[in-house]
Parts: sequence; C-alpha cells; structure tokens
Amino acid sequence: MSLENDSEKIDDGGLGSREAALDMGPDEFRKLGYQMVDRIAGFLESLPSRPVNPDETVTEVRSVLGGGSLPEKGVPATEILDEATGLLFDHSLFNGHPNFMAYVTSSAAPIGALGDLLAAAVNANVGAWALSPVATEIEKQTIEWIRESVGCAEGYGGLLVSGGNMANFVGFLAARKAKAKWDIRGKGARGGEQGMRLYASRETHTWVQKAADLFGLGTDAITWVAVDGEQKMDLVELEGKIAEDRQAGHQPFLVVASAGTVSTGTVDPLEAIGRICRANDLWFHVDGAYGAFAAMLPEASVDLRALAQADSIALDPHKWLYTPLEAGCTLVRNPQNLIDAFSFHPDYYLFDQDEDGENPDENATINYYELGLQNSRGFRALKVWMAWRQAGREGYVRMIRDDIALAKALYDRVGVHPNLEALTQSLSITTFRYVPETVPDGVEDRDEWLNELNRELLKRLQSDGKVYLSNAVVDGRFALRACIVNFRTTLNEIEALPELVACAGREMA
Ligand SMILES: Cc1ncc(COP(=O)(O)O)c(C=O)c1O
Repeated sequence: MSLENDSEKIDDGGLGSREAALDMGPDEFRKLGYQMVDRIAGFLESLPSRPVNPDETVTEVRSVLGGGSLPEKGVPATEILDEATGLLFDHSLFNGHPNFMAYVTSSAAPIGALGDLLAAAVNANVGAWALSPVATEIEKQTIEWIRESVGCAEGYGGLLVSGGNMANFVGFLAARKAKAKWDIRGKGARGGEQGMRLYASRETHTWVQKAADLFGLGTDAITWVAVDGEQKMDLVELEGKIAEDRQAGHQPFLVVASAGTVSTGTVDPLEAIGRICRANDLWFHVDGAYGAFAAMLPEASVDLRALAQADSIALDPHKWLYTPLEAGCTLVRNPQNLIDAFSFHPDYYLFDQDEDGENPDENATINYYELGLQNSRGFRALKVWMAWRQAGREGYVRMIRDDIALAKALYDRVGVHPNLEALTQSLSITTFRYVPETVPDGVEDRDEWLNELNRELLKRLQSDGKVYLSNAVVDGRFALRACIVNFRTTLNEIEALPELVACAGREMA
C-alpha cells in the first residue's frame, strides 16, 4: 500500500486549513490595533488631569475584575480590548503622571510602548543569534551605546535583563565565579574551605541579601559597612572589616558600591572604593540601577564617573532611560567572565559558537543565553534602542539634568517653608519631613512623634491622588521622598508640592 493512497484516505479533520482560536486576520488586527493606539493616545493626553492613584481597596479592584473561573469559551477580541483598556486606565496607579515622584520608577517613553508592540509582533527569541539575527545585533549595539554613555572603555560588554535586581545578580554571579578559589560551579558555594565574604554599605538595595541567599553564600556572608554623615560608605570601616575578615580566615571577594542609593540617591566614593578593591584583589561591583546614567552629564562628579572603572555595573534603562518596564542591563569589564559564570553547551543546541567554543571575540556570534540566567529571551532591547535613537545622548543629558534641577528646586523650596524640614538632596532625590510649629503637650519623644506623623501623612498624600511620594529613613528620621525620574514633571508641580504637603500635614496634626 503506498503512502500516497494512505494519506488520501485519512480525514484531514480540518487541519488542511486550520481555524485557530487565537489567530487574527490582517484586517481585524489593523482595525483593533488602530482602535487601541487611539485609546492609548487619548490616555496619554488625559494623564495630567487624572488622579495619580485611584485609591481603591483590594476588594474594590477585585470586584471590578470579577471573580469568574477559567473561561470555557472565548469571546471576540474587540470585547477584550474594551475591557482591558477600561480596567487599566481606570484602576491603575500612573507612574507616567507629572505628579508621580515615588520609588525609582520612571515615566515611560511612548516610543518604548511602540517598540514593545513591534518586538512582540516579530517575537524574536534573543537567546541565540540564529533565532534572532537582527534582534541580537540590536541588543549588542544597545549595550555598546550604554557602555559609551557611561564612559566605560571599549571591551566592556554585557546583556540586557529584566531590571535592577537581575542586573545586580548577574554581576554578583560573575564575581562569585571569578574570585572563588575552587570550582564553584561544580562543587557549589560551600565547596571551599574559606567562607567568601562581600562588603556592602547599609544603604545598599535589598537585592544584595537576595543574591547572597539565592546563590548559596548565605546572608551572613555580607559584611555590612556603616555610612558616614552623608550616607556614603565609610572607607575606614570598609578597609578595617576586610582586614578583620582575612584575619579570621574568610575570603573577601567583592565590594558592592552604589551609584545612587535607593533611599537618598547618594553616590558612594567610587574612586576610593575602586582603589581599595584593586589593592585587595577584590571584585568591584557598582549598583548603578538608579544613578549610573547620570554619569552621562558633563558636570557629573568624579565619583560618579569612576563607575566606569568597575569590574561590573548594574544599570536600569527602565529607570533613567525612561523605557517601559522591563529593561535592566549588566556591563562587565571582561565579557569572558559572563561566559565563565553562565555558559553550558547542551547537545540539543547547535547554535554556532566561535572557533574555540568559548571566547566571544569581535566577530563571533553572540548567543545571549550563554551570558546570563535566561534561556529564551524577549527583545527588550528594541524599546531601549528606539529610545536612544529618538532622544540621542543630547536628549538624555537634558532630561536627566532637568530631573536633577527639579529635585534641587524642591530642596530649596522645602528649605524655606516654615513647616517643612529639608533633609537630603542627591541626584534627583530630595527627602524632607513635615514639622509643625508646635508639638502637642504630653509628647515625650519628639522624633518618634514626628516619624509617626510623617508616616501617616505619606499615607494620606498617597491616597488623595494629587501627588505620589514614597519614603526614606534618614538617620532614624522618617522622611518623605521625592524621586524625579519623570520627563513630564515641571517646575509647576515642584512649586505646588511644599504647600500641598504642609496643608495635608496641618489638617492631620
Ligand atoms: C539602587 C537600586 N538598586 C536596585 C534596584 C532594583 O531595581 P529593579 O526594581 O529594577 O529590580 C533599585 C530599585 O529601585 C535601586 O534603586
């Protein structure tokens, strides 16, 4: 019996021309896509007149969504788009609002949204060059531009990741592998006789605890270093603790410094920390998730520019490059360290490797799955690349400089307000607190009372939808914190802020 005859007899079950539940013809896609873009344009236009925060309870938001179980049957896409836009536009906190100044979350560049749409449409898998030829090259070029922008020498390389935590993890793992005195990838983190130790200031973002925990060293491997009066890592203590740990038989291997701490935007003394690392043969990692891109400014401090001397740097395009979430980046002095830390060559991947199978030289194919934690990888580089193209270095310098100038303007205005106390100002973060003229009778601990008052005040401000701030704790004082990574914020919002805060404070006190 011939195969031909066989196949003639088989009922094709409709597979000859499938009707897949998720397919969408070009006409429908075009129509829905235009509608969606129109709605997004309207939403962006309406942002300043919306409350920053809808201030709804969990119960309220859940009830809008409805608690239906898994849908058995599908519905037309047009209904879904109506529903999804309604849900998002009416029940979200808007970090793109001119009055959003919290955490380190930027307003997103609209071109980034278009980039994400295009990237999703082509759906390149940027894990391997063969699966994403031009996308891999665009990511490579994006990394090069990032390297250049912060002043790192040629030869530094890296990859994009989902955000600051992941970018720091990549640097941490590269350091762990490069400095371990035994085969740490084979024998594990406890395989050596000496316990590895790393150093971080108490102002370091909490990623460092996650990394020490997740990657097998344990959080006790972190030796915490105090900060000085300006919130910068104390160098005398750093050197002392390195020596102490050595004396006790541990192996110091890594110093984590910050180019813009999460709470106050402080830049650690990076030049001196770099020197200490070189003198002690330690890996020098800079967490620049927030502040690294400020090194682009011609007026950047010597310490900020010294991040370019680090062995590894974490940067976050979804912060000060204003790309939509998610986009982080790790740069390393020697990209071979990433291959050493992450690469495996399973039989089921026949992706090209360069001649010796390891060294990513200039003309070798890059397979990004070998340089980091992810295997399949989305094309997040596109939105970053498009934003660089749209703004150029010049555009970024202006936006970042303006953000910093606005934070300074806020500090000055808070400083002369009778009911506000300015606390810190660094990069684009200003911290301050509300201090009423009198403290009620019976209050024994003024600072504790002020902390409580400002904690309550922050909640009130966050819920009333006019402005969205976050908090910091500065030398034990609970502070209101404005962090401006927002190209939509202007001097108008900044000038209105002190009285808005003081007024809410008076109502409460
Ligand atoms: C200094 C610093 N490091 C790391 C992170 C973590 O970044 P992400 O939230 O993108 O993971 C942040 C976030 O604000 C940060 O400010």
